[in-house]
Amino acid sequence: MQAVMETYKRLGIAPTSGQGSWLFDDEGNRYLDFIAGIATNSLGHGHPALVEAIKEQAEKLIHCSNLYEVPIQAEVAEMLTGATDFDRVFFCNSGTESVEAAIKLARKHARTQYGPGKHEILSFSRSFHGRTYGGLSATAQPTLQEGFGPMLDGFVHAPFGDLEAAKELVGPQTAAILVEPIQGEGGVNVPPEGFLQGLREACDEHGALLIFDEVQTGAGRTGHLYAYQGVRVVPDVLTSAKGLGGGFPVGAMMAKEECAALGPGNHGSTFGGNPLAMAAVKAVLSVVDEEDFLEEVRFKGAILKNALEALAARVPGAEVRGEGLLLALDLGPELAPRMFEHCLREGVLVNLIGGTTLRLAPPLTVSRTEVRAALDTFRGGVDTLMAAAETAAVA
Ligand SMILES: Cc1ncc(COP(=O)(O)O)c(C=O)c1O
Repeated sequence: MQAVMETYKRLGIAPTSGQGSWLFDDEGNRYLDFIAGIATNSLGHGHPALVEAIKEQAEKLIHCSNLYEVPIQAEVAEMLTGATDFDRVFFCNSGTESVEAAIKLARKHARTQYGPGKHEILSFSRSFHGRTYGGLSATAQPTLQEGFGPMLDGFVHAPFGDLEAAKELVGPQTAAILVEPIQGEGGVNVPPEGFLQGLREACDEHGALLIFDEVQTGAGRTGHLYAYQGVRVVPDVLTSAKGLGGGFPVGAMMAKEECAALGPGNHGSTFGGNPLAMAAVKAVLSVVDEEDFLEEVRFKGAILKNALEALAARVPGAEVRGEGLLLALDLGPELAPRMFEHCLREGVLVNLIGGTTLRLAPPLTVSRTEVRAALDTFRGGVDTLMAAAETAAVA
């Protein structure tokens, strides 16, 4: 690993193959994958529909460029627009690129419709919108921006969930509000009732676009194809990536016709929407965009959440957050790292965020039995932590 730039702290395990919800290394260890490539392996590992689609497309045509018509791109765009409230799709290769495209679209839309001066983007504390300069400028986490300044001009931030504070910052200068309907990297934070609707109204009042960053919450993760469909607040623009390709790198920015302001030469991507990526998205959508499948995601999510809440009730100050199969168990800075170590020792992969919170995002295809197996591990972890706390109290 010496030659790889150390932009990630790695855990010292090295999976080399996967099947369903399981990862395997070359030393005979197996891991129950409850983080799925950070909410990305939506169909788990080695799903036959995805593998076959990629194989078949690779044999036909991998790439040809957006200089030509790409029939499978048009087909997948129609699958997405047919399943959502949007009319146009721009394909790219990652989450941060989809956010970048959304920011550019919002500024172009504002400029075209209202003239100069309307270029501000409002985003929120604890948000995460990616690592490129547009996405990073919108990401209101000082620790992530530190050392990379100056950030881009025209980005303002309000506390997540504070509608009044957000409204103070919205005006004729606002091109867009950018928000995750549930914050992923920031701790799986669910906004208070009425917050997203209030942002919708503020945008309508000031001719600004509402952009939902659904890079993490999209592609079925919350038990709806997109989370906005569950909360019933329809944005003008939506970004998607991660689970959309089931592990194949792909992103999408979708917009309503009336704000689809990008034309030829305004934006582009060499790889964006290439046939191989589109074959992956088509396979994922064919599985995920089915009501029975989404209902099962909601059901498994509810089992997991209820059981986690019962566990959290035993730990002072603990909290469970999230929706569908994007859940967090917040145990605080002392217990969360120990619980994380326990899970790793037991072969259950979860993610520790902010040093306080375990994030769970298993494959959407996880079985009910696997959910119960992971819960046994979490329960064992809480038993151990509580026993240690009691011993310490007696001593
Ligand atoms: C909400 C959100 N937006 C954007 C991104 C950036 O996506 P990527 O890492 O694919 O560039 C992420 C990644 O975690 C995310 O969760």
